[in-house]
Amino acid sequence: MHTGMLNAMSSDSSSGSSSSERAAHALMRGELVAFPTETVYGLGADAANSVAVARIYAAKGRPSNHPVIVHVAKPEDITSWCTDIPDQAWRLAEALWPGPLTLILKRHPDVDTAVSGGQSTIGVRCPAHPVARELLTMFAELKQKTNEVRAGVAAPSANRFGRVSPTRAQHVRSEFVDLVARGMPVLEGGDSEVGIESTIIDLSSVSSGGAPALLRPGAISAEQVQAVLGQSVIGHQASSPRVSGSLKAHYAPSTPLALCESGERHEKVSAWLAAHVGEGRLALLTRDPDRVAPSTRVVVIGMPGDALAYAQVLYATLRELDEMGVATAMVENVPNEPAWAGVRDRLARAAAAFEGDR
Ligand code: TXA
Ligand code: MG
Repeated sequence: MHTGMLNAMSSDSSSGSSSSERAAHALMRGELVAFPTETVYGLGADAANSVAVARIYAAKGRPSNHPVIVHVAKPEDITSWCTDIPDQAWRLAEALWPGPLTLILKRHPDVDTAVSGGQSTIGVRCPAHPVARELLTMFAELKQKTNEVRAGVAAPSANRFGRVSPTRAQHVRSEFVDLVARGMPVLEGGDSEVGIESTIIDLSSVSSGGAPALLRPGAISAEQVQAVLGQSVIGHQASSPRVSGSLKAHYAPSTPLALCESGERHEKVSAWLAAHVGEGRLALLTRDPDRVAPSTRVVVIGMPGDALAYAQVLYATLRELDEMGVATAMVENVPNEPAWAGVRDRLARAAAAFEGDR
């Protein structure tokens, strides 16, 4: 159980309505709500309300042709958002939902295109975090009372476009100071357990003979998906639908960041120190901190040796870099192995934001 969630709930008990309930009512009014999920915190709006969805784009500074994911309380709720749902989707939902997996399916013809960035497909996910589930369930109940068929919360990660995703409520509050000052609810849910965004699998073309495709790696590996489907999953295709996280430069901190392979760590760090005399310190993120030669100009940040544990702390660590006052960061790359695919992808994108910068 998340301690933050317990705090949020107990502090609310005197008022008679939980913070999730108040947030669900805010969603009904077309307002934005930030909430925790097991991957990262989301910035949510009523997915059936195009004015509310437009508020997400405005708040994030995100181009309106980038689709957002619709979060649902129960797997079967996707039937009001998607059409032509293949058996593969139900098998994945059965095995891996609620959880850190997003499915791209064909958009139901009655669903407004605002949420899908104008595309004929739609991303859906049933998250596992108890606070997210509570919010989604309460929102679905309110929708049902008004006889609305579609209950879903459109939510990208609660960060400004191109920045590091939030894994704590405090990250969200510092990212959207103005919205919070104007009363946007930020539900507390402790540190996100997964720490990087959901795995995205595109199933939108399987009913016409296409293969399932991995659009974004995450904690659920392509291998796990293949094992459930008994069918191979192809990597990102040039013809796949647009994914904003697949822009090369994304998920970046403000501190310049470069990647190095383990074998070249010493050489790269020495070269930076020699070329930037009197220009401050370098932060080195490594899974092997004990083997780094001590230096007053190098801040060594030890990272976990396990892929899931590394993912969990990655974004919080990138945000901390910005507060440490270091001149630059060097990240020792992680193994090129399936279990590390999600972390490798995010590190590569964070570094790509600074390529040609130095
Ligand atoms: O873990 C997550 O997925 C988090 C939490 C909040 O659920 N959400 C998240 O949302 O990462 P966002 O908007 O930051 O990233 C969603 C990704 C984007 O890259 C978007 O382009 C892609 O999903 N996406 C959504 N709908 C899509 C569609 N119809 N076709 C292709 N990509 C889609
Ligand atoms: Mg995002």
